[in-house]
Amino acid sequence: MKILVIGGAGYIGSHVVREFLDHGYTVTVLDNLSSGTRRNLFGEAAFVHGDIMHPVRLREVMSEGFDGCVHLAALKAAGESMVSPEQYAEMNIAGTINILNAALSAEMPNMIFSSSAAIFGSPQYLPIDEDHPKNPENFYGFTKLEIEKLMEWYDRLKGLKYASIRYFNAAGYDVQGRINGLEMNPENLLPIVMETASGLRKGMSIFGDDYPTRDGTCIRDYVHVNDLAAAHVSAFEHINEMKQSISVNLGSETGVTVSEMIQRAREMTGMPIPAAAAERRPGDPAELVASSAKAKELLGWEPRHSDLDTLIDSTWQVYCKNFSLT
Ligand code: UFG
Repeated sequence: MKILVIGGAGYIGSHVVREFLDHGYTVTVLDNLSSGTRRNLFGEAAFVHGDIMHPVRLREVMSEGFDGCVHLAALKAAGESMVSPEQYAEMNIAGTINILNAALSAEMPNMIFSSSAAIFGSPQYLPIDEDHPKNPENFYGFTKLEIEKLMEWYDRLKGLKYASIRYFNAAGYDVQGRINGLEMNPENLLPIVMETASGLRKGMSIFGDDYPTRDGTCIRDYVHVNDLAAAHVSAFEHINEMKQSISVNLGSETGVTVSEMIQRAREMTGMPIPAAAAERRPGDPAELVASSAKAKELLGWEPRHSDLDTLIDSTWQVYCKNFSLT
């Protein structure tokens, strides 16, 4: 089976590529390397330096004949999307329309899409299942929801099957240590904790310590990137066999507070990780936890590496390698 992974040189994309290769698929990566890196490419996968904003090139690549594509190419900073919505509309929505249209003209039957818990907005109940109302509170989440709706129509009108996988908080690195490219200027909690542990930052901020949670800091559902990657392969197999599109939430179903993450990282790395309480970050809900019951039922998916220690340890190993720490 041949799979095209668009955005396959990025943090999540490289783990997805590794998982498809491990399952014996023939993989081609298409990436513009704007945030992905050549370090995340594997010799066994073909690489095309290309951009989803170039529809002609996309059609050329897709016409090589693939059984499906995984689409992870997107801008993903929620805060930035509120300042530069035009960039997010162009890259995320227009870029996906290019992919969908190329898929139709190449008669590519399946698409796996990186969606996000950001489509739900502030939770009206927990855990968040697939039926939860969808009211994105940032433009980034809006783009992901619009793409889900586009895919529904392309299925209804043209029969393109899709799996939309709504990630909660992706974290961790390949537990076998095969992926070592770090994200530049990370905005997410665990990489920031690690940059602080590594001494790249003198200290870090805890955005709000007065939330109605067990220690006053925000609760999130961290899911290991190897577990996310495994869901992509299962989702592809599912839609390819059943000829039926699906949307699933993907999280570990366990809530971890910001303070718990920092404290456990201190214990595991032996580093002080100075952290000071700061103002709340606009748009942060107090608590986000997934129900992954549907992914478990439909895909037989189980989180295997999403416990806090594995999330922290697998990330710390990569920081140690990159910065020659002990
Ligand atoms: N946080 C800090 N200090 C930091 C960075 C983050 O206290 O320096 C806190 C945030 O306020 C939040 C928690 O850590 O409470 C997690 O923040 P992240 O920025 O790592 O992740 P978010 O929950 O904001 O968002 C992530 C993805 C989104 C996705 C969402 C789904 O970035 O794309 O998870 O749950 F939609």
